Amino acid sequence: MKNTFGNSITLTLFGESHGDVIGAVLDGLAPGIKIDIQHIREKLDLRKPKGKISTSRVEGDEFSIVSGAYNGFTTGTPLTVLIPNTNKKSSDYSTLRAMPRPSHADYTAEIKYHGFQDPRGGGHFSGRVTAALVAAAAILDSALISHGIYIGSHISSLHGVSDRAFGDIKEDVRSLSVSEFPALCAESEEKMKKLIEEAAANGDSVGGVLETAVVGIPAGIGEPWFDTLEGLLAHGLFSVPGVKGVEFGRGFGFGELFGSEANDPFIMENGRVVTETNNNGGINGGITNGMPVIFRCAVKPTPSIFKEQSTVDLTAKENACLKIEGRHDPAIIHRARAVVDAVTALVIADALTVRFGTDYLADCK
Ligand SMILES: Cc1cc2nc3c(=O)[nH]c(=O)nc-3n(C[C@H](O)[C@H](O)[C@H](O)COP(=O)(O)O)c2cc1C
Repeated sequence: MKNTFGNSITLTLFGESHGDVIGAVLDGLAPGIKIDIQHIREKLDLRKPKGKISTSRVEGDEFSIVSGAYNGFTTGTPLTVLIPNTNKKSSDYSTLRAMPRPSHADYTAEIKYHGFQDPRGGGHFSGRVTAALVAAAAILDSALISHGIYIGSHISSLHGVSDRAFGDIKEDVRSLSVSEFPALCAESEEKMKKLIEEAAANGDSVGGVLETAVVGIPAGIGEPWFDTLEGLLAHGLFSVPGVKGVEFGRGFGFGELFGSEANDPFIMENGRVVTETNNNGGINGGITNGMPVIFRCAVKPTPSIFKEQSTVDLTAKENACLKIEGRHDPAIIHRARAVVDAVTALVIADALTVRFGTDYLADCK
């Protein structure tokens, strides 16, 4: 029942939606990694709910770093980030203990934790817990940026509306880092927001697909057989609540291609080996080839919808009808992008330090 992920750098996540605090512990960090408080704030802001397309539960996310940091740098000892939960309405959840929400973790948590779990607001399974993940990973993300590695995600499709594909990836990733809504094309953004608002007005929810790019990652990262970069990323990404599919490069699209269409020919460019196309998403044999790492995550529609749904009454052991209350996101995807980026930063930082050693990320080198 561990809540720790990573090899060289590990992240432990703790807390519940309506508990006093949520938090994360990063261990295995080098001493001397600069802690950019403003960068942490910016990453948390990208995850925050916004207007009618999000839950009305808005938290200040006033984080504190209570260990592992001194004078603006990591000390090399476990670093703990704490974020208080200040905006809670636990009464909304009183019926869910007996009547689990379809497709949320209420029922599976009840079975696994024998009824001892904190059910308020989805407890440990709430998207709320991801704020701590985002805050902690932002420290790693700053270190990656100082090594010229940039991560960004956009909604490539949402309920039938597509965004434009990545173009100049580095420039697109830069623009995503400051866009409140993760779409590359203004027209798509407008249509996607409208769809989310319509779903909300109908008491319903929508899902979509996030596409992520990692640019500037050196060739040679990943540990076959079992800690391939694809394997590590998939492991981390499937920990993000609501992520139900992950594919790299052309992914399932490879099923429609000939080898002559699918292969990425090598060429020399300014003295560097690059590939003409990037169907393999920058990974061959589980190891980065120096091209941008590209992957997509399917994010399901929010399970908590306000329409009547069938469920069971676990106390009476009979079928039941559920009409939930509470505050929920009509779509998870535009907030999940910050979480997907955070998990990506964690995995990339971990894989780089496995390859080059703990001190690789530190500024004191
Ligand atoms: C940022 C974020 C916000 C979320 N908000 C909600 C929400 O408001 N209501 C809800 O039912 N699920 C929400 N979720 C998704 C649930 O936490 C998730 O679906 C649930 O834990 C079950 O896990 P699974 O979908 O991965 O199987 C959110 C997830 C994330 C990442």
